[in-house]
Amino acid sequence: MTTPSNPSDKESSVTHDSTSEAGDDRALVSLEHREGSDNLPERFQDPGLPAHIHRAGDSDEAAARRYERQVAALFAISMFATVLFVVSYFAVGNDTVVSLPIIGRTMALHVSLGVTLGMSLLCIGLGAIHWAKTLMPDTEVVEERHELRSPDEAREGAVKILADGLEGSQLKRRPLIKYTLGGALGLFAIPLGLQLVGSLGPLPHTDLETTLWDSKLPGGKPRRLMRDPDGTAIRLSDVTLGSVFHVLPEGIDATPDPNNEKLKAAVILISLQENLIKSARERKWGVDGVVAYSKICTHVGCPVGLYEQTTHHLLCPCHQSTFDLTEDCKVIFGPAKRALPQLKISVDDEGYLVADHGFDQPVGPSFWERA
Ligand code: FES
Repeated sequence: MTTPSNPSDKESSVTHDSTSEAGDDRALVSLEHREGSDNLPERFQDPGLPAHIHRAGDSDEAAARRYERQVAALFAISMFATVLFVVSYFAVGNDTVVSLPIIGRTMALHVSLGVTLGMSLLCIGLGAIHWAKTLMPDTEVVEERHELRSPDEAREGAVKILADGLEGSQLKRRPLIKYTLGGALGLFAIPLGLQLVGSLGPLPHTDLETTLWDSKLPGGKPRRLMRDPDGTAIRLSDVTLGSVFHVLPEGIDATPDPNNEKLKAAVILISLQENLIKSARERKWGVDGVVAYSKICTHVGCPVGLYEQTTHHLLCPCHQSTFDLTEDCKVIFGPAKRALPQLKISVDDEGYLVADHGFDQPVGPSFWERA
């Protein structure tokens, strides 16, 4: 080999070397980047593959059975850990705290779920690796590069390889592994489903369809309309023409979850000239032009708190839905899809405004309207 004087010479030199060694299947190494070094060989020998070391299980059936038991034991530990996960999910309380090194104080439930789930997954992985390394076929395969779309013979060959792989996995011969792997993988689906279904929180039941206005006070008394936030009752005579009150039901602070009740039961009370009200039902559900509507926007639930006295429109500040107070609070503009629910009110013996019953439809975003 002559020393090239320029890059193109290098190229031709290497080409010459490669072609001149036809029939030699050892890899040739280009040396042009090592010009000037007298210590490097002109070519490297292909080191080839190390000698194949056969595994104990390949020739010793007793060793193969031992490996089989080890794999099965790992899958069995995974199943046990999965069962412990399920038990922990129900048995360990949310309020139990443990103290761990480095981590410090943490919830016992999280620790137990994390450890058991991790153990379950780890043992499935270890079992699969141990199975592959000790029992599955240990042959070295050389595959030539080929077109992306394999010819039909190759595709058929792939199917055969898969079939051979299945055969080589010895699943048919070793049902213990088959069943324990099936059990480990099958049980492992439980924690995932359990978290998806079991951790969604309590069912809403009728909570989304009812408000505190639906229930009466002890003794069957209807709930009075109370100023928000003062908590004082409102007489009909307090509601002068054009005035607006933000209202909550009487007794709301005595409920187990007042904030949640307020989110649903908030009402806006407005007085307008009765003859402006076009809807007979709206007139009937109010008192002398004083009407009460849910304050929860039927778009996505913002409080509808802006009243235009001249146009008698109620506006939601979030996305500008506009409701016509003179006609059942129908939507006249904006993304809301249905009218605000009206609260039927009357006056009790002492002159205070009370709710006759709850809203006749769910309050809030209109996706609850299923009609
Ligand atoms: S929440 Fe009222 S318009 Fe969107």
